[in-house]
Amino acid sequence: VAILKIIEHPNEILSTECEEVFVFNNKLRKLIKNMYETMIEHDGVGLAAPQVGVNLRIAIVDINDENGLIELINPVIIEETGKITEVEGCLSFPGIYGDVTRPHEIKVKAQNAKGKQFTLSAVGFLARAISHEIDHLNGILFTSKVEKFYELETLEG
Ligand code: CO
Repeated sequence: VAILKIIEHPNEILSTECEEVFVFNNKLRKLIKNMYETMIEHDGVGLAAPQVGVNLRIAIVDINDENGLIELINPVIIEETGKITEVEGCLSFPGIYGDVTRPHEIKVKAQNAKGKQFTLSAVGFLARAISHEIDHLNGILFTSKVEKFYELETLEG
């Protein structure tokens, strides 16, 4: 297991649409393990593959709830309900925070690291985290959705 280098803005890979994953092998699972260690090391709640320089539709989320680590391979939001505006940050934008409006509730279809399809319903902060990571896979950065910026060293996100 290794801690990977997190790519910070500006970098072209962060605004590139990622490629679909077709091969579910040990290399993929090792990448996810390394992404997890990297996310934990940086106190993050989510991380997308382009943030570690890999142009593939892979993201992980762990908001410390009963879901534990959620592996999202080729994730797609299939339903969204409501809207809520909250402050969020991104490991690729250290020290930058801003208010972003996201769906209150989402239903996501994805595959796990073994290629098995699943659907997941998420509400509130979990829905926000998943939506933020899926945006990364489409080359969309949270700063493009920020309604009000904060630069607070004291906030951790
Ligand atoms: Co991010």
